[in-house]
Amino acid sequence: MGASYSGSAFRAAAAPTATAITAPGRGSSLTLTTFTEPVALTDAALADEIGRRRTFAIISHPDAGKTTLTEKLLLYGGAIRSAGSVKSRRSDRHATSDWLEMEQERGISITASVLHFDYQGFRINLLDTPGHQDFSEDTYRALTAADSAIMLLDNRKGVETQTRKLFSVCRKRRLPIHTFVNKCDRVGEDPLGLLDDVQVELGIDCFVSTWPVRRDGRLVGVYDRERAKIWLYSDMGDHGKSRPDATLVDLESDELEAVIGTESVERLAEEIDLLEIAGTEADYEAVARGEASPVCFGSALTNFGVDIFLERFLALAPPPTARESTDGVVEPAEHPFSGFVFKVQANMDPRHRDRVAFVRVCSGEFDEGAEAIVSRTGQKLRLAQPQEFMARERVHAESNAVAGDVVGLLDRGSLRVGDTVAVGRPVEYPGVPRFSPEHFAQIHIEDALRRKHLDRGLRHLAEEGTILLLFAPSITGPIPIVGAVGSLQFDVLLDRLEREYSVSARLERLPFHCARWVTGPDKAIDKIANAYGRRRVVDADGAALILFDNEWTLRRSMEQEEDLTFHDVQPRKAADA
Ligand code: G4P
Repeated sequence: MGASYSGSAFRAAAAPTATAITAPGRGSSLTLTTFTEPVALTDAALADEIGRRRTFAIISHPDAGKTTLTEKLLLYGGAIRSAGSVKSRRSDRHATSDWLEMEQERGISITASVLHFDYQGFRINLLDTPGHQDFSEDTYRALTAADSAIMLLDNRKGVETQTRKLFSVCRKRRLPIHTFVNKCDRVGEDPLGLLDDVQVELGIDCFVSTWPVRRDGRLVGVYDRERAKIWLYSDMGDHGKSRPDATLVDLESDELEAVIGTESVERLAEEIDLLEIAGTEADYEAVARGEASPVCFGSALTNFGVDIFLERFLALAPPPTARESTDGVVEPAEHPFSGFVFKVQANMDPRHRDRVAFVRVCSGEFDEGAEAIVSRTGQKLRLAQPQEFMARERVHAESNAVAGDVVGLLDRGSLRVGDTVAVGRPVEYPGVPRFSPEHFAQIHIEDALRRKHLDRGLRHLAEEGTILLLFAPSITGPIPIVGAVGSLQFDVLLDRLEREYSVSARLERLPFHCARWVTGPDKAIDKIANAYGRRRVVDADGAALILFDNEWTLRRSMEQEEDLTFHDVQPRKAADA
């Protein structure tokens, strides 16, 4: 039994022994590796391994450059050899983190996937978060699995709606947030003014870590405030495909003057003075508490400033920390293994009709073969076949997954988003948010013979959390109703039913805009549900819900029926039943 783990020699993407097979027509590849069983780590090695984990997500508004930055982080980490420009990516090949065809066609990232790679001794787990606003629920869930976040802003737009929403989730979790002001290769808002807006809009202190250095409006480098020196970059002439050469120079150096000219040196010196007088002082403790954010300026497109941002971020971003559970505080380096499911994804590989539950490891080391308990059901689960991910590429995990990592478990339907999986004790981690759907539709199929396939598809997609599956009673049998947080999810639903289950379906929108689980006397539920603008339905576990046409109807019902309890999330008893 050979050990596959060798300290920092983790693979970035696929193992050297891997064979890549390309799936016909999808441009994706599945990598098969020879399986070697990892050996258990000693306590000290476990603590060391956890100490080098940095698990984070990027929060941004669509188009701020998240895909571009992600690609550059992969480039710097050695996980990809060359970064393609976003344009060529959109036309002839696909970003590593986009893998559903819908995503590629629309050029948006819909489902969160997990990327990991090694960089300067760190093991980086980047939780890719969907940018489209309709998929914010998936993004919120990814944030529950993160230990810190990068807030990416467009230098002309500053804080935008989606940034604001995601920021508020990070705030609630007190996640340390590092800001990268992107697209500085073109002139944008005045940097200090932009920071001021961020502080006012989000209520977080911002302090400059790097500052753009320009000549005639063109970005040529960044001022590194900690080193009090300037990084000058050379344009590699390849549209940011490779890392630019960077030279560290003094403000007073001839080299700087030769590149940006006397006038720009003088202006930069004034800006630096202003930063020291008027700018916020660096407060790293406040960063750790999520109350202050270091800010770097740069360009993900040209790579200018990305290396120093990454260096600063990795130096300050925390390794996995202790988490609250029903069994008290659980330390990451504590045995045995525990983690929670933050995402379930069906049909990642079209040739294998399987489901993968993504588990964020919270403590210990993934112990293949051990028997774990699923907190929600009390069911036993044999920990087998952990999978690692490089977006579409899936390999059998060779190295030990420890606290901070994400493991994918092949699952036959026993795991749901929010479930805690733990060995040896019944701990439970709270707080994977589930949002109440705001759009509802009845689903119809043309070909009644495909009903079984429809049911299977709906069940899988509901287990993934893409939709909420409900049933309205009727004399001809239960009618499936789907609920979604954003209406784009309906497009995804129809597309995936067609592609993955060969079911052609159409949706008939229903006039409801909120839903609540209800518990209490049956008669009282019926009384409320039979009134105008409401409808009684059940979820896949048979738990009762009422759909309401608007918030006002919901509030009135809550006031009227004191015997009933209204729940935002499915009440425990129903889930356990
Ligand atoms: P997203 O994932 O956050 O949605 O953004 P993405 O990386 O796809 O980038 C959105 C657009 O912004 C792309 O332009 C991309 O090239 C551009 N972009 C990203 N980083 C930078 C940067 O540092 N500087 C500049 N100037 N542009 C950047 P695109 O493909 O041309 O799309 P579009 O602009 O035509 O919509």
